[in-house]
Amino acid sequence: MFSLKNKIAVITGGGSGIGKAISKLFAKQGATVHIIELNADAAQQTVDEIKADGGEAFAHTADISKQQQVLDVFQHIGSINILVNNAGIAHVGNLEGTAEADIDRIYNVNVKGAYNALYAAVPVMKGLGGGVILNMASIAAHIGITDRFAYSMSKGAIFAMSMSVARDYMGDNIRCNTISPARVHTPFVDGFIAKNYPGREDEIFDKLSKSQPIGRMGKPEEVAALALYLCSDEAGFITGCDYPIDGGFIKLNN
Ligand SMILES: NC(=O)c1ccc[n+]([C@@H]2O[C@H](COP(=O)([O-])OP(=O)(O)OC[C@H]3O[C@@H](n4cnc5c(N)ncnc54)[C@H](O)[C@@H]3O)[C@@H](O)[C@H]2O)c1
Repeated sequence: MFSLKNKIAVITGGGSGIGKAISKLFAKQGATVHIIELNADAAQQTVDEIKADGGEAFAHTADISKQQQVLDVFQHIGSINILVNNAGIAHVGNLEGTAEADIDRIYNVNVKGAYNALYAAVPVMKGLGGGVILNMASIAAHIGITDRFAYSMSKGAIFAMSMSVARDYMGDNIRCNTISPARVHTPFVDGFIAKNYPGREDEIFDKLSKSQPIGRMGKPEEVAALALYLCSDEAGFITGCDYPIDGGFIKLNN
């Protein structure tokens, strides 16, 4: 079960955190993995780890917010069966704490970046007779989270664009779903704690851990396992769905 043998998977942001865990697991399950990353060294590190484990992977350096760069990489890759739109960036702030530059940056990476990869990948999938798309949303797409104005907006857009793609390309045998994690312990979380709460890192880490009723943050490998299921043939009946992976955050926080 859950074999990805003979599948070509493109994963954005595979140099770190959740994307790295997905890249490693997909390669382990037999996929040829292509990582699209801003951070060339990080992508190469993931590729090296995959190869050391006997898998096949390639690193491509690109900024997903730049359409021509994304189109060039996809043209270079050629065939694609699975796309995981995972790369994303954070911003902490309410409406008044969100400057024009902040909202543009978040939009360009989190929203337009996903659009760019979809725009490049869907025609190829259509030509191949189908494919699977998984877009990384967040619990912030579905509920109000304090001080996440721009980030929540971007993840709500990810959810909405996923439903649109799932609807429009069902007839082309393309499935499209989203995963909505609560806090997962990755450099993304450590980075925004360090940037936004200097000197209070331990206190905020503890607070964020306890905001999941289960009492801890998720692990990237736990998200990767769900991603594997949704991108495998075993999930062939699933499209247009969102899957929270949240330690009870949405339904049990009472
Ligand atoms: N960690 C969490 O708690 C959490 C929760 C919910 C959703 N998410 C989402 O999961 C995804 C992955 O998060 P993570 O925690 O693993 O993050 P991370 O920061 O550990 O990794 C993200 C990777 O994306 C890459 N990247 C950033 N901008 C890019 C760009 N313009 N072009 C190409 N690559 C770029 C970075 O270099 C990095 O390697 C993000 O979309 C994030 O919003 C994370």
